[in-house]
Amino acid sequence: MQDTLLRGRTLTFHHRPEGVEDTAAYSYVENGAVLMRGAKIIASGDYDQVRKAGPQAEVIDHRPHLITAGFIDTHVHFPQVQVIASWGRQLLDWLNGYVFPEEARFIDPAHADEMAGRFLDLLSDHGTTTAVAFCSVHATSVEAYFTAAAARNMRMIGGKVMMDRNAPDNLRDTPQSGFEDSAELIAKWHGKGRAGYAISPRFAITSTPEQMEMTAALVQAHPDCHIQTHLSENRDEIAFATSLYPKARDYLDIYEGYGLLNDKMLLGHAIHLGSREVGTLAETGAHPVFCPTSNLFLGSGLFDDARLRGAGTNNGIASDIGAGTSYSMLQTLNEGYKVLQLQNQSLHALQAFDWITRGNAQVLGLADRIGTLEAGSEADVVVLDARATPAMALRMERVETLADELFLLQTLGDDRAIVQTYVAGQPRKRAN
Ligand code: GUN
Ligand code: ZN
Repeated sequence: MQDTLLRGRTLTFHHRPEGVEDTAAYSYVENGAVLMRGAKIIASGDYDQVRKAGPQAEVIDHRPHLITAGFIDTHVHFPQVQVIASWGRQLLDWLNGYVFPEEARFIDPAHADEMAGRFLDLLSDHGTTTAVAFCSVHATSVEAYFTAAAARNMRMIGGKVMMDRNAPDNLRDTPQSGFEDSAELIAKWHGKGRAGYAISPRFAITSTPEQMEMTAALVQAHPDCHIQTHLSENRDEIAFATSLYPKARDYLDIYEGYGLLNDKMLLGHAIHLGSREVGTLAETGAHPVFCPTSNLFLGSGLFDDARLRGAGTNNGIASDIGAGTSYSMLQTLNEGYKVLQLQNQSLHALQAFDWITRGNAQVLGLADRIGTLEAGSEADVVVLDARATPAMALRMERVETLADELFLLQTLGDDRAIVQTYVAGQPRKRAN
């Protein structure tokens, strides 16, 4: 098998950095390299050492650029690629007015195929190598999604949304059909190649108690699948959801009551939470997911990262396309930094880059496979240029430290700063 050696400055994380002085949290090598054999990383670190491990390797010289693990997006809606940037509404009106009509189009396999391919290519153009996506209610959309991911050998997680009420007729399943379609898709796709299935009740508003029961049965039968849904994004949503489940103590208790909370569960948004909910998220290991560009775009509110982490949760960060406004995890960090600034929380650039790589991998329980440049990891790698635009190059003239460079990348960078994205060892970036 041909070895490929990527030469450049390498950066990989071992744990979440406490701050800039926490140098044990990461390895940064100026004269660095990553050696890939097929779809795996077999060595990384000092160039001379790595070269010895792969004397026959083809060398791709990315100097002076920065090489990191590929980015991971823990919450995104692939059928919303043509919803992004839809004007003027907040969550429930936005769903009814823009999202549901668009998702209805995914019953057509040709449309779903076309959008799945374009979605995945956009992700890799932006440096994202793994994502967790909601597909539409139609099994066809999941087929399209995993088929397109397999063709690119991308590690992708996803599932069909289950929704049996408060949605148009052509977007509703039933408790039984939601269960059966999900079970069939799990049997066909989960663990096949790099695919992972996420059991996906859309949110409490669009699932009856009967559907929640069937969801619980799916979760019990498939404990190694992820589970994804939405939680406490918007005040009207919370009022509606809790009115539909009057016995629940709060929004989270709806999901808790069906036994859905565990460390495989991803809860998008998690903004307006009571202290009981925060404590329960921490106790169960369920993961709140911060979606900053979406939360600002829909005017939903400010995710309180410090409060949740202080209680002991392990939070993800995500684009939430199509309420989110950028495919770029760099731009997601840019807006995330501002959301946290509004609450006097300063996200450090080293923490930020750890978050979109190793941190999100850990949230997914996949840190042994993706999210770092460690030997044995899958070869999902990005190459970053902090001088990608004239404004970035000008600012770089005054940058002296790695942390400053990373902060510049996350503040001013987007797909133009992605020089190359390697997915399972193969270059996937299209021209800027
Ligand atoms: N809540 C339920 N469905 C959705 C969705 O598609 N996007 C967002 N942002 N919130 C949701
Ligand atoms: Zn979402």
